[in-house]
Amino acid sequence: MNAQKTYLVFGATGQTGKHFTARALSDGHRVRVLARNPGKLDGTTPNLEIHQGSITDSPDLDRLLDGADFVVSLLGDAAQQKTQKINTAFVQKLVPAMRRSGVSRFLYQAGGLSAPPNRRLSPTLWAIRNTIARSYIGQHEDNEAVMRYLSDEARDIEWMVHRAGIGSDGPSKGELQRSSRAVSIAPFRDCAAYDYRLLSDASAIHTCDLSAYRR
Ligand SMILES: NC(=O)c1ccc[n+]([C@@H]2O[C@H](COP(=O)([O-])OP(=O)(O)OC[C@H]3O[C@@H](n4cnc5c(N)ncnc54)[C@H](OP(=O)(O)O)[C@@H]3O)[C@@H](O)[C@H]2O)c1
Repeated sequence: MNAQKTYLVFGATGQTGKHFTARALSDGHRVRVLARNPGKLDGTTPNLEIHQGSITDSPDLDRLLDGADFVVSLLGDAAQQKTQKINTAFVQKLVPAMRRSGVSRFLYQAGGLSAPPNRRLSPTLWAIRNTIARSYIGQHEDNEAVMRYLSDEARDIEWMVHRAGIGSDGPSKGELQRSSRAVSIAPFRDCAAYDYRLLSDASAIHTCDLSAYRR
């Protein structure tokens, strides 16, 4: 194992988050999570530190960040994001706290149907977003506001955004690669494994790329 690291994970109880957390723990790292429903996690797991709370209730970020090496956001609440940009409001508090704590590397998972700053989606992705995926438009708009904020106001932070194309909770279909144009529909476990690798990839800093299987 490489040197033990501490991952601060938001969204650890979610579909991507549970795979990410399991992967980091199985590699011998520490994982600290903020969970509004801690009962979804096994509190006896070694190296797993659970803090109860919601990102909308001003959690003690300085305490959560103390000693962390990486910060990971796998957050989403599509119902709430229909009317409120809860992730953007949270990231706008998280980034200053990261500056105070000296923690720099931050992975944020958005979706392939969220447009990166100053770019348009392809016509195909735009059509999908506005038809079969239209109930998630609030989530995409929130993710887009996060990307704009990071791009415009947080370039001192080593952030990276994964615009994932998740589809199911099935078995692995292979190893996703970073791509500016192609997106693969992938199971949550592959997206989580990709997120885990991306955090150590300095070339991904300040990118908002998609992920795809190599052909
Ligand atoms: N699902 C997809 O097919 C898909 C596709 C492409 C991209 N994405 C993007 O990937 C990201 C994660 O998606 P996902 O499907 O893995 O997420 P998910 O299964 O919906 O899980 C979201 C996580 O965020 C947590 N959360 C939500 N509101 C919170 C709050 N107020 N305070 C603390 N935690 C909160 C949830 O906690 P609880 O367990 O308490 O609910 C859960 O752990 C999102 O940005 C989404 O847009 C998803």
